[in-house]
Amino acid sequence: MKQPPKRYLITSALPYANGLKHIGHLAGAYIPADIYARYLRSQKRDVVFVCGSDEHGTAIPIQAMKEGTTPQAIIDKYHQAMKEDFASLQISFDIYHRTSDPLHHETSREFFTYLHDRGELETKETEQYFDEGSQTFLADRFIKGTCPNCKSDRAFGDQCESCGATLSPDELINPVSTISGQAPIKKKTSHWYLPLAKHEAFLRDWILVQHKDDWRPSVVGQCKSWIDGGLQSRAVTRDLNWGIKVPLEDAEGKVLYVWFDAPIGYISATKQWAINNNKDWKPYWYDQDTQLVHFIGKDNIVFHCIIFPVMLKLHGNILPTNVPANEFLNLEGDKMSTSRNWKLEMRDYIDDFVNKENGGDQCVDMLRYYLTQIAPESKDSEFTWKGFQDAVNSELVSIFGNYVNRTFVLMHKLCQGKVPKFDNAIADEKDIQLVKDIADTKAKIEVSLEQYKFREALFDVIDLARKGNKYMQEKEPWIIAKQVADNPAAQQLIDNCMFNCLQLTANLAVLINPFLPSTAKKMCYMMKVVDKMLDWENAGKLNLLSVGYSLREPQLLFRKIEDEEIAIQINKLKSGAMEASPKPAEITSSEPQLKAEIVYDDFGKIDLKTGVILSAQKVPKADKLLQLEIDLGFEKRTILSGIAMHFEPEAIIGKQVVVVANLAPRKMRGIDSNGMILMAEDENGKLHFVQPENVIAAGSKVS
Ligand code: MF3
Ligand code: ZN
Repeated sequence: MKQPPKRYLITSALPYANGLKHIGHLAGAYIPADIYARYLRSQKRDVVFVCGSDEHGTAIPIQAMKEGTTPQAIIDKYHQAMKEDFASLQISFDIYHRTSDPLHHETSREFFTYLHDRGELETKETEQYFDEGSQTFLADRFIKGTCPNCKSDRAFGDQCESCGATLSPDELINPVSTISGQAPIKKKTSHWYLPLAKHEAFLRDWILVQHKDDWRPSVVGQCKSWIDGGLQSRAVTRDLNWGIKVPLEDAEGKVLYVWFDAPIGYISATKQWAINNNKDWKPYWYDQDTQLVHFIGKDNIVFHCIIFPVMLKLHGNILPTNVPANEFLNLEGDKMSTSRNWKLEMRDYIDDFVNKENGGDQCVDMLRYYLTQIAPESKDSEFTWKGFQDAVNSELVSIFGNYVNRTFVLMHKLCQGKVPKFDNAIADEKDIQLVKDIADTKAKIEVSLEQYKFREALFDVIDLARKGNKYMQEKEPWIIAKQVADNPAAQQLIDNCMFNCLQLTANLAVLINPFLPSTAKKMCYMMKVVDKMLDWENAGKLNLLSVGYSLREPQLLFRKIEDEEIAIQINKLKSGAMEASPKPAEITSSEPQLKAEIVYDDFGKIDLKTGVILSAQKVPKADKLLQLEIDLGFEKRTILSGIAMHFEPEAIIGKQVVVVANLAPRKMRGIDSNGMILMAEDENGKLHFVQPENVIAAGSKVS
């Protein structure tokens, strides 16, 4: 056997702090990394598991524009939210850092300077798209157009949202600025580039020769086609006012490209972890006896297998040992998509299951279980609510939970609630086979986990529980119990069976622990053992529970998922997607961001007042209109508003509104409308009332 490395550094892709993350992200980069980290910790290996928020790049200011706030407010909000969601789902990062942290800025600048000072970067002047309206260069996501690959018009300067193709702005057909909606012009600008072609020989040897067998075929395949396609120099800076300033003179208005600084975030996170724990971070990034493993989704492969390794090599760091990238997870027959609102966010699951009365930790483990079972390790896979229900009900409940429960119930009934003694003299083949199954399963799981085959490893744990059920079923201790009155010696047959069943239960706790940590803890509680029993070295042992030791009453490990619960979820998914279409981005894409400038006096002519909706009713033969009676304090008004598709009339009575009170009356469907109420539209096209924060008198002035 190969000696294990001295230490492990495990990373999960730093998620963009521009929105909540969905279960596809969770299944791809976080759960597998967590299982791996927990497994290694249970072997008492030296392991650090790092992650953090990716807070730079154009995605952040764009989200700020959408939400009408500042980039800083966006990253603060989503950093916090993502951190909480990962904690709720028990992803056991040793640190969850963020790239806006000064330590990260400093680390990234040092990295850039190091490469720059050694002449490893090139500068080039190119023409780039420039938006005259806002006087800014249009980096990546600020430019939109038609995809040259699939002809969808949801393509951005870096990637097509429809087909996923990696793009450069020049490839877009009919490019427009997402800031002004206008066609951009070309303007000269100069940037620093990482000349990848210089490193082709290194990459070929390192990936296509040295790692051709131990990396996933899909990962090696993607790298090969990149290398074979000709390695282009990659710009590592951008013209943008959000990010890490380029640490050079004459670099006004330029920041490090987000894909340059984000992976360095793994290093800064390690540094911060070391500071927090009084440790030395350097061996984790410089000592060859460190196993560095990056867990990512497949859209991040080139960055982690080609660009970042070149940076690491030039900077004198170690290279990743493996990059087990996952494919994509689809949802109910379709690709997950934020713009179409076809997704299940981690937060939704937490709210609808974990934080419900019959939820809690068991629901965390149910999701971890299903997402591991369907992990897209070698091809895209699919989350369906029915699949979730089946996995929980027919595997966790009926096999694993049932085995543990039956063992406890029988032990209390037939062995006075104590661990019985095993008598070798009467051991039979079934007993021997069971013991062998435990040892074999442990060995198999180790091999699988060391090869990052998490679904296979989890399958083997459940399969062992299945074998336990079969063993018990064949031994039938409840039948033997009926003979004990006549033949007291029969009790030993029962004791042997229950002894094995209990030791298997303890083993199952050890083996399931990396995958379903709460379940393992709950089992320890029932067995009255400390969590230390979960150390991996205990797997395979048959003396984990001492003879004569009395155990607690059983608790159910998992509840069933009811048909009704999944119906609600499917409904929610479909109605959410309906609300999101037609996609507002497409409707508004040709509209400029702002109307023409007005002077103060123009604004001063508008009389805005607060009001309260007194009554609301549908206008016959007008799908969109509601007729509202509004109390303006000094008078009551009839106003027609085009919000009937968004609100039920009875649901909005009593709502505060802001009214344009001096708008000339207008007749619609034979009714006079005397004014207008203000509504805000969110990114999904849904309307929201614009209203004072607190209840204030009707007729109050708004200015
Ligand atoms: N934020 C990127 C994404 O969500 C991932 C960054 S991974 C890192 O696709 F290595 F750059 F940190
Ligand atoms: Zn496309």
